[in-house]
Amino acid sequence: TQARHTTLHAKRPDYIPGVISDPGYVRIFDTTLRDGEQSPGATLTSNEKLDIARMLAKLGVDIIEAGFPIASPDDFDAVNQIARVVGNEVDEDGYVPVICGLSRANPKDIERAWEAVKPAVRPRVHTFIATSPIHMETKLKKTPDEVLQIAVDAVKFAKSLGCDDIEFSPEDAGRSDPEFLIKVLSAVVDAGATTLNIPDTTGWNVPWEFGPLIQQLREGLGEKADRVVFSTHCQNDLGLSTANSIAGAAHGARQIECTINGIGERAGNAALEEVVMALALKGPTHFGAKGPCGEGPDLRTGIDPVHITPTSNMVKEYTGMAVQPHKAIVGANAFQHESGIHQDGMIKNKQTYEIMTPESIGLMRGDQQSGAGIVLGKHSGRNAVSTRLNELGYELDDDKLQAIFIRFKEVAERKKGGLDDDDLEALVADEVYSAQ
Ligand code: KIV
Repeated sequence: TQARHTTLHAKRPDYIPGVISDPGYVRIFDTTLRDGEQSPGATLTSNEKLDIARMLAKLGVDIIEAGFPIASPDDFDAVNQIARVVGNEVDEDGYVPVICGLSRANPKDIERAWEAVKPAVRPRVHTFIATSPIHMETKLKKTPDEVLQIAVDAVKFAKSLGCDDIEFSPEDAGRSDPEFLIKVLSAVVDAGATTLNIPDTTGWNVPWEFGPLIQQLREGLGEKADRVVFSTHCQNDLGLSTANSIAGAAHGARQIECTINGIGERAGNAALEEVVMALALKGPTHFGAKGPCGEGPDLRTGIDPVHITPTSNMVKEYTGMAVQPHKAIVGANAFQHESGIHQDGMIKNKQTYEIMTPESIGLMRGDQQSGAGIVLGKHSGRNAVSTRLNELGYELDDDKLQAIFIRFKEVAERKKGGLDDDDLEALVADEVYSAQ
């Protein structure tokens, strides 16, 4: 509740690839248009991608992964258009997001990704190759030494094209040997990588594994770790993607990869809105020297949460991917209260059952249909019903109120989704009419 009336986002520091200019600032890398679009059934047109990219820029996303340019001519065009338009729209603070394109670790992919993102003011190429035993042996059919060489060649090739913002990901890092990871990461830093992204590709890790893994890799790189930004990319197969991402940041990652509404391959990715609100509410108090994670700076992002709801709605509409009602932050029930005890608390003081306001994430508190408020259902108490009737302009004596409340309970028992204002007015009319 401390953050209720405080600023929920930080001023963005200068952007320099590989450089952490503010020790507590966590870059938000949104991959809705790349990993998110890999959700089965979530296909987006180029115009929809451009609209979403514009919303992401307004939200304050630091890096937009716009797509996988080698995948198809349409993908290339979409990334290229975003680089030319959104990647050149400098905001009033002089800030413009980085536009990133994904590529496998081969020259053809990298060339295509670079061509697509090059028109942006801040272009980035993101190249990856798997490092886990199962991926190397059965998918790539390569030895660890061969994989190491391919990774180094890929980063060198991107650099030779003129790209100075290069992200490297050892795919399936969550199931890779940390010693081998250190060898690969150290070699790609020498080759010119500026961001080291650590993907828990299969969502296999738990927070107390993933956080310390980030720390172990940073320590393993020695002074080379100061030349790069560590990043997390956590899939959600065990529902731990947000927790793992936050654990990564607590252990030194300064970029978090995520998607709007948590969409992505299989069970999806870390949800941007969850990561951002966790850092907005806990970052200033939980990670500093007094926090349980030991010495460290306060953590903040540059995301302005007030744009979360419109962005979530746009992604939901364009992808056709429904958001579960009880989804944290953006689910339809996230700010709804049904039980009598909770409603009574909310009427007396909203902080009894809400740790953030709906307004802070761009959701206006209003009637039931708006998704922010009290739901009058079978668990509701007399106080909630009476308060709503007063708001609707009815002043009822105790006997009438009691009679209406009894009828309300009978109807609520049968009516799924609760009673709306029309239902309440019908109950009042019934009571008044029957009394005449
Ligand atoms: O899940 C994954 O490993 C990825 C990488 C390409 C970052 O999407």
